[in-house]
Amino acid sequence: MGYNLLAGKRGIIFGALDENSIAWKVALKAREEGASFTLTNAPVALRMGKINELAEQCDAKVIPADATSLEDLENLFKESTELLEGNLDFVLHSIGMSPNVRKGREYGNLNYDWFLKTLDISGLSFHKVMQVAEKLDVMNEWGSIVALTYIAAQRTFPDYGDMAQAKSVLESIARSYGARFARLKKVRVNTISQSPTKTTAGTGISGFDVFYDYADKMSPLGNASAEDCANYIVSLFSDFTRMVTMQNLMHDGGFSASGISEDIIEALSK
Ligand SMILES: NC(=O)c1ccc[n+]([C@@H]2O[C@H](COP(=O)([O-])OP(=O)(O)OC[C@H]3O[C@@H](n4cnc5c(N)ncnc54)[C@H](O)[C@@H]3O)[C@@H](O)[C@H]2O)c1
Repeated sequence: MGYNLLAGKRGIIFGALDENSIAWKVALKAREEGASFTLTNAPVALRMGKINELAEQCDAKVIPADATSLEDLENLFKESTELLEGNLDFVLHSIGMSPNVRKGREYGNLNYDWFLKTLDISGLSFHKVMQVAEKLDVMNEWGSIVALTYIAAQRTFPDYGDMAQAKSVLESIARSYGARFARLKKVRVNTISQSPTKTTAGTGISGFDVFYDYADKMSPLGNASAEDCANYIVSLFSDFTRMVTMQNLMHDGGFSASGISEDIIEALSK
């Protein structure tokens, strides 16, 4: 049962690949809360994933767009506002990919063409989404734009590779564009720094299971699930968070504020 938190709101959700995706859970919650939206993903992901199943459940249309292509983004915004019959109140950027991580390149042996791709897909695409939205003037006043990030932007994690730099860029863009969009249209822009989550992107990082368990033991509340994350995102799309902007919001069960936990002391004392 929903609370009608997003009744009458329209949006675009990027990044639902399969039922484990954070964006997938956000789509289901946003629908339950009364929103209408379009779903989008890269053309190759649309062929491999199951997005049509989700589209049916949410009564949403799917529009392909590579988030690094300005042309695709323009088409996506134009089609979405036509289909939804109005301008947008929210956008979710739930996109991440590093060819270096995917192909197991060590941090001292990065392929720089791939590094640029990582930055483009996982960082700059957030700027592109907002620049196109601004130019087409498709955001409503008091709209909300959210992107997903990870604490590897601030602290090092082995095997997160060049994604750490991409997340730093992403979080910095949220501050700079947040200041601009607030002045222009009172649109808020935030990133959510989520716990390790068992998704295609998450489990693609080597050693993921170990740092998933470590984070779970370090966080007083345990790891935040994808469903918890979706609830938080819905609150950020709602009118209850209108003055929150330019923030990197930790959604991690307390991980980021913990030095060591009793569970870790116990595990290491054995
Ligand atoms: N899973 C985790 O542990 C975790 C933790 C913190 C933050 N995040 C972030 O959450 C977001 C969503 O990831 P997820 O964990 O749900 O995994 P996921 O693999 O389900 O989602 C990643 C999405 O990015 C899309 N994508 C890749 N290249 C694209 C492109 N060029 N254009 C458009 N879309 C593209 C993929 O198709 C996929 O749908 C990412 O930003 C990720 O870094 C994940």
